[in-house]
Amino acid sequence: MKTKFTANFELSPQLEEQIVAIAKRYHNEPHQLMKILLDIQKVTSNAIPQEVATVISRETGIPEAGIYGFITFYAMFSTNPRGKYVVRMCESAPCHVTGAKAVMDAIIRTLGIQPGQSSSDGQFTLEYCQCLGVCESSPAILVNEELYTNLTPGRAAALMKDYMRGDVK
Ligand code: FES
Repeated sequence: MKTKFTANFELSPQLEEQIVAIAKRYHNEPHQLMKILLDIQKVTSNAIPQEVATVISRETGIPEAGIYGFITFYAMFSTNPRGKYVVRMCESAPCHVTGAKAVMDAIIRTLGIQPGQSSSDGQFTLEYCQCLGVCESSPAILVNEELYTNLTPGRAAALMKDYMRGDVK
């Protein structure tokens, strides 16, 4: 399997040390890959670029192609650097019928970016995703690992403003 990681990522020695330390926290266990990647993403611009995957591969023994396959299978991972906060709007049918479009429009207006874009200050990336598993409380969004449900355009805009002000960590 050919890997298609993005180029242009600066892996400093300090960052590499952090990545090694995170893998060690999970005893470099291959079956802990999900937790390892989630923690590493927090220190690598919400992404697992190739240089990072190379370190993880070295520490865990998992082939790079296997790590790439894992990253591309799960929507919460990316090979491209993203904002500090990745906002994901569920676009599956139940959320769609309960008003996901109006919620997404409010988020777009508030953040000033379109789906697939990142804000110029590096704070936000906006994406669509598939069902988040909380259809009974739709529409729903995920901000990094935090789930928000029963959203209205007003609540979504207020929530984004909270993040913009730094009121939500
Ligand atoms: S369809 Fe949106 S959470 Fe299931």
